[in-house]
Amino acid sequence: MRLKDKVAIITGAANGLGFEASRIFAQEGAKVAMVDYDAKTGEERAAQLKEEGGDVAFFQVNVADRDSVDAMVEEVVKRYSKIDILINNAGITRDGMLTKLSVENFQAVINVNLTGVFHCTQAVVPHMIAQGKGKIISTSSVSGVYGNVGQTNYAATKAGVVGMTKTWAKELGRKGINVNAVAPGFIETDMVKAMPDKIIDQMKSTIPLQRLGQPSDIGYAYLYLASDESNYINGTTLHVDGGIMM
Ligand code: CAA
Ligand code: NAI
Repeated sequence: MRLKDKVAIITGAANGLGFEASRIFAQEGAKVAMVDYDAKTGEERAAQLKEEGGDVAFFQVNVADRDSVDAMVEEVVKRYSKIDILINNAGITRDGMLTKLSVENFQAVINVNLTGVFHCTQAVVPHMIAQGKGKIISTSSVSGVYGNVGQTNYAATKAGVVGMTKTWAKELGRKGINVNAVAPGFIETDMVKAMPDKIIDQMKSTIPLQRLGQPSDIGYAYLYLASDESNYINGTTLHVDGGIMM
């Protein structure tokens, strides 16, 4: 019970890494606000975790839309009276070579992966400042740290997450808030399954562990950074990628 009675908001919680993190956090005693814009899957997955004994609630939110984020944060505070942990995990890809990437697809990824992280963090921080503590964890990516063919937009946002994390760690440390990022490598979720097989195989051969990661590999990294065990870690990016980034 490493998160007993903590209140956590996890974005992108209907699928993949966010769903697995919701399960792990609930098992560790947290009350979890599962945030996603996919209401159908989100409701089903929240019901599944409740059946497993978790204290979770689903909120339909588009993180790119500030009003939707503000309404969710207000509702979470009304329901649980505090917010201890924010996991900025929601993210999308719209891959394309630079020569073919449309401005719309460039902007769409910025809106969710970068502006969405800003919206959620800015909305939650006053509540953390008021209680003198909090943990903010945002999801970067190996693509943001070393670049990736076909991901101009995505890599820009994931590098941006690292920059915002360091800035917020400096601004908010004195308020008792730890701000960190996790940079996953290639993890077996729908996002990676959408990649061409040939490129996945090519990618696997460059991973020292020679396999893709599992969603729980990232869930446990989020858990560590959200728990009291990491209280002196601030402004760091934890690489969970089987050794791609060295
Ligand atoms: N790494 C290395 N080479 C790549 C590559 C990659 N990630 N993606 C494409 N290439 C290569 C292709 O093999 C191809 O090489 P050849 O000309 O020698 O055959 C060349 O680039 C052009 O690729 P396509 O013919 O596929 O070009 P396209 O215009 O039809 O499609 C694309 C471009 C949409 C980017 C497609 O190649 C693609 O989906 N690539 C995968 C991009 C990728 O890695 N996305 C990661 C998604 S998972 C994720 O984002 C999670 C995370 O954080 C890691
Ligand atoms: P996924 O596609 O399986 O799940 C993402 C979830 O985010 C979905 O449920 C989707 O509905 C939700 N979402 C998307 N846009 C949203 C929005 N505007 N508002 C609210 N919810 C929204 O993806 P996955 O793999 O679980 O990725 C989670 C995070 O991890 C993303 O930020 C991704 O960029 C990052 N990541 C994933 C890697 C991987 O290999 N799977 C590697 C590195 C980073």
